[in-house]
Amino acid sequence: MLQIGTLALNNRLVTAPMSGITNLPFRRIAKRLGAGLVVTEMISAVGLTRGDQKTLRYLRSHPEERPLSVQIFGSEPGIMADAGRIAVDAAADLVDINMGCPARKVVKTGAGGALLRSPDRIEHIITAVRAVCPVPLTVKIRAGWSPNGPPASQIARIAEDCGADAVILHPRWVTQGFSGRADWDIIAHVKSRLHIPVIGNGDVRSPCQALAMREQTGCDGVMIGRAAIGNPWIFQQILDLEQGREPSLPKLWERKEIMSIHFRLLMDLTGEQRAARIMRGLLIWYTKGLPFSSRFRAAFTGIEDLPTMTSAIDAYFSCLKDTSVGLKRPLPGPCPQKDADHALFALSNQEHVGP
Ligand SMILES: Cc1cc2nc3c(=O)[nH]c(=O)nc-3n(C[C@H](O)[C@H](O)[C@H](O)COP(=O)(O)O)c2cc1C
Repeated sequence: MLQIGTLALNNRLVTAPMSGITNLPFRRIAKRLGAGLVVTEMISAVGLTRGDQKTLRYLRSHPEERPLSVQIFGSEPGIMADAGRIAVDAAADLVDINMGCPARKVVKTGAGGALLRSPDRIEHIITAVRAVCPVPLTVKIRAGWSPNGPPASQIARIAEDCGADAVILHPRWVTQGFSGRADWDIIAHVKSRLHIPVIGNGDVRSPCQALAMREQTGCDGVMIGRAAIGNPWIFQQILDLEQGREPSLPKLWERKEIMSIHFRLLMDLTGEQRAARIMRGLLIWYTKGLPFSSRFRAAFTGIEDLPTMTSAIDAYFSCLKDTSVGLKRPLPGPCPQKDADHALFALSNQEHVGP
């Protein structure tokens, strides 16, 4: 169990917010398969306060995924506070403030990772959001803007002093983007200096690594991003390992079932054509390491309707035996992250998975 402010989570596993990925269907599936807390992708505070319909759609939720953390980004304390209130009125059981996004279009507005250069602004934002949000408040930070900027330990202390209930730390510099490695020593350092929970994040690619992060850093929770894309079973596998059970690979029928459910949930959210386009990208992930997966993906090109999608999935799985043999994704070792990253960024460039 993990206590964040007034909220008690069932376990210590959190899905990372991922723009274009962690939409409602993804979150519902992650929750079903063991995540203790799910988080929306980052949502523009300006968009929410202007009542922009497209932005407001990111707040759509379902009882199955609760408790839900809504992540907002922005740079103006007043606007962030208003956005926090809108998020709580809509669905948020927690509000998370993005203080780490390295994307140029976000940083140039002074939001996301740019905030890590301005401790004063961070103080104003957290204080303003805290004052209006009746739910637990978290901040997601990086190691800092760069090795020369204010360090994570300083930012995290400001967050704690201003009333944040937990800090989520992805220990890469903003200037690093996603290159290099997450430096877990920084998580250990920040944890040793705070009283509120610290959730560690970065480069957990297998159940063993989730346990290793907790052991090496003393962090209270573990947040998992890329390793859960197409592999939502990772949450249950970590829980298995924590409880001394052998983590099991999903059977082929389970994979097929989750893929079909994911597609149906996407259809409910976005309509058939768009769901098919998004699902085509996600299938790269769901079938990673399975036999004949490249042929399967080719068969999906151009599919835009449910019956064709369903029969293509059926056809693929009927050529595979219901066995874990042939699954190349290793357990408990890490997945081939380099390939994964390439495909991921291809996916996020090609299609925004949000509603
Ligand atoms: C495609 C993609 C989108 C992301 N979008 C967000 C976001 O909206 N908000 C955020 O705080 N972090 C975002 N991140 C960063 C992740 O939340 C996480 O910090 C990072 O991927 C490291 O964790 P991992 O190694 O478990 O993936 C994103 C990462 C990826 C790969």
